[in-house]
Amino acid sequence: MTASKLSHIPAPGPDRRMRRPGAQMELARDTLALSGGLVIDPATKAIAPNISMSVNNVLEPGDGAFSADGIDDLTALPFLYARWTNPTVRQLEQRLAALEGADDALATATGIAAIGATFLTFLKKGDHLILSDVCYAGANELARRILPDYGIEVTAVNMSRPEDVAKAFRPNTRLVHCESPCNPILRLTDLAVISALARQHGALMSVDSTLATPVATQPLSLGVDLVIHSLTKFINGHGDALGGVVCGSKDLVETIRSRAGVYLGASMPAMNAWLIMRGIDTLFPRIRTISETASKVAAFLERHPAVAVVTYPGLSSHPQHDLAKRQMAVSGGILTFQVEDQDRTARQLAERLKVGHYAFSLGHQRSIVVLLDTQEMMKSTYQLTGEPLEDYRRFAGDGVFRLSIGLEAAEDLIDDLDQAISG
Ligand SMILES: Cc1ncc(COP(=O)(O)O)c(C=O)c1O
Repeated sequence: MTASKLSHIPAPGPDRRMRRPGAQMELARDTLALSGGLVIDPATKAIAPNISMSVNNVLEPGDGAFSADGIDDLTALPFLYARWTNPTVRQLEQRLAALEGADDALATATGIAAIGATFLTFLKKGDHLILSDVCYAGANELARRILPDYGIEVTAVNMSRPEDVAKAFRPNTRLVHCESPCNPILRLTDLAVISALARQHGALMSVDSTLATPVATQPLSLGVDLVIHSLTKFINGHGDALGGVVCGSKDLVETIRSRAGVYLGASMPAMNAWLIMRGIDTLFPRIRTISETASKVAAFLERHPAVAVVTYPGLSSHPQHDLAKRQMAVSGGILTFQVEDQDRTARQLAERLKVGHYAFSLGHQRSIVVLLDTQEMMKSTYQLTGEPLEDYRRFAGDGVFRLSIGLEAAEDLIDDLDQAISG
């Protein structure tokens, strides 16, 4: 099969499978990551995407649209202004939709912009959001601190307890938002169960699948309506571009695009779309290697005398290991560990690491570790008390070192961590 034939494969439709035109063969997802949504440039025949930096493109008379209001499908318009759509960003969107088995996708400037766009599109004054009580700090703070100012009610619930989620629904619940695994404690959500609850109550369900990546989990196939990623993390994977995406049905994505996409203005720059597409080319082998290394490092840390607890979905000691096996094709690149004296270990890691780095963020080609102290996380973000706090502590104790595994050789990473945390 030649690349030019693949270029005629459209972004996937509602049946969520990619087939070669006229053939019955279904493409493996590794292949989809390379060819799903790929567009061969008609002018140059370039296979690698060109970067279209132009803010505007020449119109044919009668092509113009002066407002996004009332237009059913903004992507059917010619490329008229880059804040609305841009050829490079559009190709990225189609490739991400292919990866997630979605009809369509909207790329945004950052992951938090994709989350904000989803919230501000589907929630209005008087609506109710059910939110995972532990999720990416920015999403949690946006929902609990900002949305109530706009008359939106928010209930934070432990999403690993479906009975608590069931009780949280109100007649005005419009959206359920969660992560699996959740950042930073790696608690899982049973996406099939929670999305079924949302459906029963007439609410949409969005999941931030950044930590799982499309390699591990396909949330749309489990009944979720919208899949969000911070592309800044594993999908770009090289720590050099911010980006976000929300994937889903044509109608839902078009609704987000025509509201938050156009009017909130968090459009993705073409250069970032190009970098992120390069990341997608190697996503599957990267995530498989990273997951294998993470499993080796997790097993090593579990045996290490300086380490009290290791949490990793791939370990049989993970409290939801059975769910992880069902819902995740690979166990992912993030693990956490706990130690007795976390402040001393944080200092040692910052001073001694030679291969990894002591730094925020995650999902890059180089390993990164950082301490997330439970008391500080409660003060700055989650503000849990009582049973929800106990639930958090069951995964995180007094604090976790969140270790994001990179592409270094497992033995080197293990030796580096060993010399940094010992003594
Ligand atoms: C799970 C998750 N979602 C969303 C975000 C926000 O992404 P961005 O920094 O690209 O806005 C982050 C950032 O750390 C994250 O970890």
